[in-house]
Amino acid sequence: MSIATVHIGPYALRNHVLLAPMAGVTDAPFRAAALRLGAGLAVAEMAADKEVLGGRHLRRLAGKEPGAHAPFAVQLAGHDPVRMARAADLARAQGADIIDINMGCPAKMVTGKLSGAALMREPGRAREIIRAVLLAADGAPVTLKMRLGWDDAHLNAPDIALMAADEGVAMITVHGRTRQQFYHGRANWSLVGGVVRRLREAGHGIPLIVNGDIVDADTARAALEQSGADGVMIGRAATGHPWLPGEIAEAMSPGRGIRPLSPARQVEEIVRLHEGMRAFHGERVGMRRARKHLKAAVLHWQARGWLDARERQDLLQVLLTSQNATRVRDILHGLSLRMREREVA
Ligand SMILES: Cc1cc2nc3c(=O)[nH]c(=O)nc-3n(C[C@H](O)[C@H](O)[C@H](O)COP(=O)(O)O)c2cc1C
Repeated sequence: MSIATVHIGPYALRNHVLLAPMAGVTDAPFRAAALRLGAGLAVAEMAADKEVLGGRHLRRLAGKEPGAHAPFAVQLAGHDPVRMARAADLARAQGADIIDINMGCPAKMVTGKLSGAALMREPGRAREIIRAVLLAADGAPVTLKMRLGWDDAHLNAPDIALMAADEGVAMITVHGRTRQQFYHGRANWSLVGGVVRRLREAGHGIPLIVNGDIVDADTARAALEQSGADGVMIGRAATGHPWLPGEIAEAMSPGRGIRPLSPARQVEEIVRLHEGMRAFHGERVGMRRARKHLKAAVLHWQARGWLDARERQDLLQVLLTSQNATRVRDILHGLSLRMREREVA
């Protein structure tokens, strides 16, 4: 499979495997880790226009690492074109290189305010928002993330994508589920292919990214084959595995020098992530937010046969309950040493 470089406006991504925005998961320290470990792009978690305008989101936007190899993409959610434009303007002033518009969030809290996936039911409003944000972005690329449609009877992603591309968006990501599916069932990558075809038939060459249920290089290949998309976006499978997008990119087209991390190096990356989250959010919040990554990492290590059930149990017991950062770090350091000894043995 030949994979072309993904261009978002003036930015050429270093590979076609992107980290999805996930509120509460892909915060600045996690995105920094994913980028350092090879992700092609890491889109910042959704910010409501209200939060950005109130200044509350500005710290969370502080996500661009000095020297990061990727543009800084900030995602905005909202329903009002004027407010979205002002939020885009503020995000740009905070260093955002790319503004992504959220048209995929299924949460009632978001769709109830007619934002996120609810915008797919209001193409006219969606168009106004895209226009306003494009104007505010002042030449910076604006991208869009959406679903297949609201429900099975309204699979209008191809229409929305065509409208958005006509308006000038620079990349579109499609999660192969409807809003009504939330996260149930399987992502339908072939239906994402309908969006790709519609854009290509209309002569649009902007990158189309397929998302949903991609967990490794095999599923990434299958999603690309079934959809004809230009790249993949990885969400939940990257929880606790900031190295996953980079590893998938390398497995699909080797030569970038990204080596799969050894078990001990994975543990060391998780220690670093834990420290980064505590530094970024403060001790208490950082400890709490890091737990979902610690849990996912431990379950992954057991699934790979690097831990037995007893070790897993003992680790989870401490990592998911301890309030003591030093204890968590010591336990992980001990695990990394044991992993190293096993690698040598
Ligand atoms: C906890 C969580 C938070 C999410 N937050 C966002 C978000 O802020 N913006 C967004 O566009 N999608 C969000 N999503 C959706 C993901 O970006 C992605 O589209 C979805 O999880 C499907 O991909 P996956 O199967 O690889 O996880 C979120 C998903 C999860 C599970």
